[in-house]
Amino acid sequence: MSLNVVILAAGRGKRMNSQIPKVLHQVMGRPMLRYAIDAVRPLRPGKTVVVIGNGAELVKKEMAGDDRLSFVIQKQLLGTGNALAVARKELKKGALLVLNGDCPLITAKTLKTLIEKHRRSRNALSFLSFSDGAMKGYGRIFRDEKGRVTGIVEDKHATRDERKKFDELNGGVYLMEEEVLGCLEKVKKNSSSGEYYLTDIVGIAAGEGKRVEAYNCPSEEIRGVNNREELLRVSEIIRHRIINKWMLKGVTFINPETSFVSPPALIGKDTIIYPNTYLEGRTRIGKSCTIYPGSRISDSILGNNVVIKDNTVIEESRVGDRSSIGPFAHLRPHSVIGRCAKIGNFVETKKSVIGEGTKASHLTYLGDAVIGKNVNIGAGTITCNYDGKNKFGTVIESGVFIGSDSQLVAPVKIGKDAYVAAGATITRDVPSGDLAISRARQQNLKGWALKRKLKVKS
Ligand code: UD1
Ligand code: CA
Repeated sequence: MSLNVVILAAGRGKRMNSQIPKVLHQVMGRPMLRYAIDAVRPLRPGKTVVVIGNGAELVKKEMAGDDRLSFVIQKQLLGTGNALAVARKELKKGALLVLNGDCPLITAKTLKTLIEKHRRSRNALSFLSFSDGAMKGYGRIFRDEKGRVTGIVEDKHATRDERKKFDELNGGVYLMEEEVLGCLEKVKKNSSSGEYYLTDIVGIAAGEGKRVEAYNCPSEEIRGVNNREELLRVSEIIRHRIINKWMLKGVTFINPETSFVSPPALIGKDTIIYPNTYLEGRTRIGKSCTIYPGSRISDSILGNNVVIKDNTVIEESRVGDRSSIGPFAHLRPHSVIGRCAKIGNFVETKKSVIGEGTKASHLTYLGDAVIGKNVNIGAGTITCNYDGKNKFGTVIESGVFIGSDSQLVAPVKIGKDAYVAAGATITRDVPSGDLAISRARQQNLKGWALKRKLKVKS
């Protein structure tokens, strides 16, 4: 049987107090709406329709490139019932799952269970419920004396007695057969809010004798985001879920409270992650690595047994097995560091390839460079890759020794096994096996300092 999905995401999100549409606010580095989309993906829906309205163009742009999604625009935000009515024309034949775009904690597992129970009981309409006295403002599920669902009343419209009597709350996730969609036409505008409530179809369907049931699920999964406080709370729950998952898979966190691991990031076994670390985007960390405190690694790939020393930033780069980076290093985009290499204190690289066993241990800038194996880059070496207008490359072949405080003015090439003496400004290629010296010869003026001292005294 085919399944359609509708995600309601047109709402204003007034309480976020923001210019950004609510569903685009970030939870662990990704727009909130992504989580609902990801939760339904394993169900293999025939079609996923997202209802947008507030900030529609922005939402569409942010979700671009996902061709499994289609969008419909709800021109006037007339409530959840109206939102689904707008989406109806986009739907294919089959059952329909409806969920909210502002509930990022819902899991595929819970949705699968709902589908199973719905099918087993041959319901016309099934939805998720939960019980949690601390969660406020949800719809209340009314049942008759036989325990049959008779309808949903929003918390703000319920009387005190009703609130006392009915403490089962609406999770806002519905699974319905096509026939139930007809009930939407019977939903009346709520007289006090002026909205059409999707929740009203529950009472309408039940009243028509259709089989309707609510199934309890963990309240955590229902937790929505209406303001920044809830955004933080939801983000924290997802952060914990991710870190717990990696701990079970064999990763050690020294202080998980201060570690951030993005949902798509991957971490190998026996890697140790110290406090204040950020693994962002599609970062992949190999096995048995150590990430010391204060580092941010973004969209990068690290091999096995890599050590990242304190306060290092790595962006869109790769690091080979057994290499050591930092402390205080910055690998800017498109740095490719080979195996067993060392990028040390205050070294910055950009768009450079650094060969196996090569060391740049201190205070260096390597930009637009291709560097071979077992090269030693002395402290304070700089590739002068920019003339104010254009960028040029530097090639350093294997086995080269670059003395400290040298400038390599690109484009320039240092041949295999060559030496560059300390303090050089290299403007011409250095042939393989040569020594390049570029500095004024040293003079020692005999007794100069002593004479000066005597002069000052007298
Ligand atoms: C809704 C339910 C409530 C349930 C809760 C669960 C209704 C009337 N109430 O309340 O019973 O307990 O969800 O989270 O449905 N939206 C639109 N167009 C609109 C209005 C809303 O697309 O015109 C979208 C919003 O962007 C949001 C979702 O629908 O993603 C839910 O709307 P919201 O206003 O947050 O409903 P709740 O008050 O949370
Ligand atoms: Ca909500």
